[in-house]
Amino acid sequence: MKKFDVIIIGGGPGGYVAGIRASQLKLNVAIIEDKHLGGICLNWGCIPTKALLKNAEVLHTIKNAKKFGIEIEDFSINWKKVIKRSRDISRRLSKGIEFLLKKNKISHINGRGILKSKTEIEVLLSDGKKEIFTAKNIIIATGARSKYFSGMEPNGKRIITSKEAMVLDEQPKSLIVIGAGAIGIEFAHFYNSYGTEVTIIEALPQILPTEDIEVADELSKIFKKRGMKILTETFVENVTDKGKSVEVKLKSGEVIIADYTLVAVGVQSNIENIGLEKLGIKTDKGSISVNNLLQTNIQNIYAIGDVAGPPMLAHKASAEGIIAIEHLAGENPAPMEYTNISGCIYSHPEVASVGLTENQAVDLGYKIKVGKFPFRALGKSMAIGETEGFIKVIYDEKFGEMLGCHIIGAEATNLISEAAIARKLETTWHEVLQTIHPHPTLSEGIMEATADAFNEAIHI
Ligand code: NAI
Repeated sequence: MKKFDVIIIGGGPGGYVAGIRASQLKLNVAIIEDKHLGGICLNWGCIPTKALLKNAEVLHTIKNAKKFGIEIEDFSINWKKVIKRSRDISRRLSKGIEFLLKKNKISHINGRGILKSKTEIEVLLSDGKKEIFTAKNIIIATGARSKYFSGMEPNGKRIITSKEAMVLDEQPKSLIVIGAGAIGIEFAHFYNSYGTEVTIIEALPQILPTEDIEVADELSKIFKKRGMKILTETFVENVTDKGKSVEVKLKSGEVIIADYTLVAVGVQSNIENIGLEKLGIKTDKGSISVNNLLQTNIQNIYAIGDVAGPPMLAHKASAEGIIAIEHLAGENPAPMEYTNISGCIYSHPEVASVGLTENQAVDLGYKIKVGKFPFRALGKSMAIGETEGFIKVIYDEKFGEMLGCHIIGAEATNLISEAAIARKLETTWHEVLQTIHPHPTLSEGIMEATADAFNEAIHI
């Protein structure tokens, strides 16, 4: 029986980051992971999709090369190589995590773990044997998987999830995307940029329902201009694989036909078959319940990342992993803060946000000042040929604190970190304005949007 200070079940961005932090704090640590080190994020999520989206960006640049005075007579797409590049990057990164575990002297247990008691985990090893491991502390970091509703069960053939959408053998001529969250939007953009005819079906009144409505509307306009069909407030009755095509029947009775249908209606935590019931570990709405130090109702058992509920984002998982380890190691970490986690969508243009939307701020009773600045008014945006979108900032009128920032446009996912730091430091609009932003940059847009909230913008 092997003993550890802490065992982590799951080697994704929650689990492996927690493992490394544990090692830094001189804890004897093991990670149980059988499928892929790096988890879904690195193998079937964030990273391989971003690789594919980079291909889409290159293609966009080539198609628009004329604008830059570059004539490209002829080019072609090698679909297999597009897919291979993405898979190769995932493989390389997963190897990188293996190296990091070795470097940090983290034991990698290749198998699947089930909790047997507060300190024991039975592991079904990948060679078929079973072994019990014990630990003073346990962290559950088993992640999440795609969910679907009855009538739209993915079959991996014509009705697919994001996983198959990443490795299709052929480029579909047409694709129906059910669900306009981050996954639906990123794949809709990717396939549209390759010339696939894309139809997006969203049950709610706006695409990207958790984003500020102005941002969602702007993206919707841009996507429609690029030829995508967007059906909001639309409900799917059922999806039928017809062999060589797929048929989506809407509640209205209308039938839409395409080569493939991507089901992207959300994800659900992996809480099954890990022994939660036996130990009486509490769950709520399908995820493990935790306090803001990531402890479950059993003090020495923690849960982090997607299995511990939304927002289901890699950076949230990693942050939780570090807090959990520091807490169990007897350090005194600041509790997890859920109000300042940036959301990023890697479409073209990109979308990123942090903090409250305008509607949320109003609903919470704030008196607000809202500023908006379009990228087309920035010199840098024009120079790089990326003028779509805007930056919107929301300030509390009383104390001047930044309540939210919403960006649609080039580099939105990098720019948002300025707003996240501003919010973390409870920065006021005066301080943002007094921070001299370098010229020419896209970040000037945050300064200008802030100025706009108080009628002081220079370039509009
Ligand atoms: P999601 O929950 O963000 O979006 C699902 C969408 O499907 C929602 O807009 C919902 O209203 C819609 N929907 C639900 N049922 C429907 C139905 N029957 N018909 C039509 N529409 C329906 O889930 P998504 O996009 O699958 O992403 C899963 C998780 O992964 C999210 O937490 C997301 O934040 C995260 N993620 C983050 C990425 C990023 O940060 N770039 C990229 C991909 C995923």
